[in-house]
Amino acid sequence: MKEQKATHVTWHEHTVSREDREQLLKQKGCVLWFTGLSGSGKSTIANEVAYQLHQNGQLAYVLDGDNIRHGLNKDLGFSPEDRDENIRRISEVANLFADAGFISITAFISPYRKLRGFCRDLLGEGRFFEVYCKASLKTCEERDPKGLYKKAREGLIKDFTGINAPYEEPEHPEILLDTDIYGIKECAEQVIEELKKQHILKG
Ligand code: ADX
Repeated sequence: MKEQKATHVTWHEHTVSREDREQLLKQKGCVLWFTGLSGSGKSTIANEVAYQLHQNGQLAYVLDGDNIRHGLNKDLGFSPEDRDENIRRISEVANLFADAGFISITAFISPYRKLRGFCRDLLGEGRFFEVYCKASLKTCEERDPKGLYKKAREGLIKDFTGINAPYEEPEHPEILLDTDIYGIKECAEQVIEELKKQHILKG
């Protein structure tokens, strides 16, 4: 984990508060943290949740693993250290979006419990929802939308999650989506129902 290098920096409070923004948006800023194997449906379901929220007049924004690795995190690979730094930065960005009042949706494998816990602690109770996209390795490998499992099996990709790098399953996710069984729309609806139940959506 990176240490703070900057000294003589002061935290400023602003006139418009998070509560003011949330009142304007009729929602509570939060993070929906999607986690799961590559091919488990994270990005697809995250996208559907964002779409349904948008249709409902709510403000959401998706931070997606593959996309972020083209920009903000293009200096990071897939070693345990780089994955930790990837998730640390995303957690901070997702936290800023939540502070801005957004329903901030992240879709990263995020294989390590410790770093998912880092984001949970950053957001605090009631603002962090771990969404576990649960699918068996067999299913993900059969789907193989990017052909990466095949390459990993051929030894062309090292440290590939599920094949030769670990995935630590969530122990107590707020939302568990069994994507082996349920379709994209059903899973997205399950997420939205939970958001209503937790009073995230006030509109
Ligand atoms: S994470 O482990 O650091 O959370 P992240 O979600 O950003 O990973 O990126 C995962 C995506 O990168 C996968 O969906 C896949 O498309 C691609 N990828 C490339 N190499 C690997 C690898 N070695 N392990 C896992 N995913 C990889």
